[in-house]
Amino acid sequence: MITEEENKLLAQTNKGTLCGELMRRYWQPAVLSEELTPDKPLPVTILGEELILFREADGKPALIGRWCAHQGVDMVYGRVEADGLRCMYHGWMFDRCGKVVIRGEWLPEKERRWDVGQPAHPCVEEHGIIFTWMGSEDAPPLDLANLVADEWPETCSKIAHEENYLRPISSIAVQNAGAKFLMPNLIVLPGGKTAAELHWFVPTDDNSHAQFTVPVSQMPQITALPLAAAPELLVEAVRKVDLKGP
Ligand code: FES
Repeated sequence: MITEEENKLLAQTNKGTLCGELMRRYWQPAVLSEELTPDKPLPVTILGEELILFREADGKPALIGRWCAHQGVDMVYGRVEADGLRCMYHGWMFDRCGKVVIRGEWLPEKERRWDVGQPAHPCVEEHGIIFTWMGSEDAPPLDLANLVADEWPETCSKIAHEENYLRPISSIAVQNAGAKFLMPNLIVLPGGKTAAELHWFVPTDDNSHAQFTVPVSQMPQITALPLAAAPELLVEAVRKVDLKGP
């Protein structure tokens, strides 16, 4: 059983908070692939950060800050072009690294990137989900092999909930003794329509979250602890977080 103060500590996941830093040291699902079309930017809030997703010319997803680095205009009105996302107010163009890109024959090297721009987070698209790495350190490879033995079903889903991500983690633990917990917000639930379901509870902000569900045909071959221990494990992990680095 954790204290009220510890509960508060785990509930806060914005940038600069201890639990927010812990969450940022893991790849997190951002949206389902089907939500992001090639022609339109998609606003999304994850861990309290207001961001915008778009696809570059090669179809790869990019995730940058939602508010233009020039004068703060909402990039949801931006235009997706071959080189990135163009702000419609003064025409600055941002690439997947959030930098302003200028291209033209008149430039000495035909291309230049301004060292100003938006925050940007690497993305990887795997089997119908776009994952992002929001940590300050370089992103490690996304490795889902231990979770999904063979094919990834196409039936993954996402539901938005108006409650803190901790609440379902606690209630599922009470209802399902076989549920397992993987740091910091992933649950493996035996049963369902297949062998098991993976559930990521990704904080949108401190009062809401998105639940990503992936049915898997085999129980993942992983070492995971009972879900009932999740709050204590999270407190222990959060207490070890150094906000200056991992
Ligand atoms: S506000 Fe975006 S380019 Fe000026």
